[in-house]
Amino acid sequence: MFDVELYKKMSQFQKLASKNGVNAYSEFIRWSKNGKILDVGCGEGSTTVDLLYPLIMANSSNSELIAMDLEEDMISAANASYGHMNIDFIQMDITNINENNNKYKNYFDNVFSFICLHLVSDLIWIKNIYDLMKRDGQTFFIIPANNPVFTAVMELRHEGNYIEYVKKVEHVFNTPFAQLSNPEDWIKPLMEKEGFKNVKCFKFPQDFTFESFDYLKRFIATFQFLIKEIPTDEQDDFIEQVANRIIRISTFDETTQEIHASCFILAIIADK
Ligand SMILES: C[S@@+](CC[C@H](N)C(=O)[O-])C[C@H]1O[C@@H](n2cnc3c(N)ncnc32)[C@H](O)[C@@H]1O
Repeated sequence: MFDVELYKKMSQFQKLASKNGVNAYSEFIRWSKNGKILDVGCGEGSTTVDLLYPLIMANSSNSELIAMDLEEDMISAANASYGHMNIDFIQMDITNINENNNKYKNYFDNVFSFICLHLVSDLIWIKNIYDLMKRDGQTFFIIPANNPVFTAVMELRHEGNYIEYVKKVEHVFNTPFAQLSNPEDWIKPLMEKEGFKNVKCFKFPQDFTFESFDYLKRFIATFQFLIKEIPTDEQDDFIEQVANRIIRISTFDETTQEIHASCFILAIIADK
């Protein structure tokens, strides 16, 4: 879904949003002794290791941390970098937890997820996370809401040369998290319907500066599941079009050539 090496280099925005969410709302996290902890959509593992692991170490002694991702490549990269640590990195699809993974039903005290669940268009993830949790377990999700990348890509679904390619992945970009102005009013009842209690959704603004047009283009290029839909010789042009649209809905500083983008992030904390 993402180019692993490029993602590692270009994921500062994701890291900043997750860190700010943790700093703002970690006081609500309920920790258990010997806690069983899951990170859903861990990517190449650096957020798990740099952000989540220290938080766990400070709050839950003797815990077990499992970090999962859909992509084998991400899990291989995580194991290559962090295999020596006390973290199990496993390949697992949060929309399909039944095969081979029954041992994790009703297993986890805490389920974290950073910058992943907006990409999962099959909402079965809500039930699946619920099923993976112990009674009295708790979620802590950080999810991008309205953001310029998703807005720009959705514009290209309607106009320009790339309509037919963008349509193939529009189910990802058309997520209510990004397209609704108040996605908390949509997700809260869905989670409650699945059985979650005390669902708290906090929405906070997150600004991010792309240091140059080139940096912005490399950031867009990390979305491999989108880029690979475009014929190779047209990819640069496509990326440029997305970047130009992002500039139009952001603030461009002529002097420094920086692009100041703003978006909203949701932190969702809920009990089983
Ligand atoms: C933007 S990355 C975030 C990675 C990491 N949490 C971070 O904060 O840097 C999103 C990750 O979600 C994973 N992902 C997408 N759909 C998934 C699914 N159905 N099940 C598990 N992981 C998924 C992707 O493979 C990708 O590694």
